[in-house]
Amino acid sequence: MQSVRDTLRASTKALHDSLEQCLPISGDAVDVAVYRQHLSFLLGFHAPLETRLANNDALRARLPDLELRFKTALLTADLGADSETADRAMALPDCSTSARALGVLYVLEGASRGAAVLLRRLLRDGIVPGPVGTSYLEGYGATQAAMWTTFCEALEAIPPDERDEARAGAIETFEAMSQSWHARTRV
Ligand code: HEM
Repeated sequence: MQSVRDTLRASTKALHDSLEQCLPISGDAVDVAVYRQHLSFLLGFHAPLETRLANNDALRARLPDLELRFKTALLTADLGADSETADRAMALPDCSTSARALGVLYVLEGASRGAAVLLRRLLRDGIVPGPVGTSYLEGYGATQAAMWTTFCEALEAIPPDERDEARAGAIETFEAMSQSWHARTRV
């Protein structure tokens, strides 16, 4: 049987690629303003979503280190005073069951892995160190691999009859991010 992680990755690959392509941070003209805008977009999404996830006790039972994974404080610190005018997400995924919430977290945790690639690019291009911090992109630092392993163990422990819910949670998260991004650029 395919692992839950592989199922989620395969089910969201097209969504990941299309989101990545439309985000200016992936483009060739990245500067401090683009980097700041990216973190502002992420903060607008993480802050309300993490409040929802924190209220899910069934999720915490399956992932006891849940709070360690929250990124709102890192994004706020990186943005400094600019965090007060961060974007607001236009849509959020349903994370009312623990399986759905693990699907949601798959997207947030996975983005942390992609963040390492972004950090290397920003360092190469001299955009960091600079006025905008890098704690979000640094993620878990030396414990990155261990945190991902623990998270994948929680994913694989999802009972077979709940796996479709996890898949729905991951898909909805990408869709909500995409929707929020497009809504903000129209304002
Ligand atoms: C906010 C937008 C993004 C979200 C939600 C997101 C989400 C994810 C997810 C869920 C994965 C894990 C896939 C898996 O291995 O199972 C991933 C991996 C990855 N993402 Fe993204 N991503 C985003 C933006 C980006 C951007 C802008 C880049 C460009 C640098 C990128 C590059 C990558 C790379 C290189 C990986 C593979 C990392 C690895 O396996 O170590 N992502 N991302």
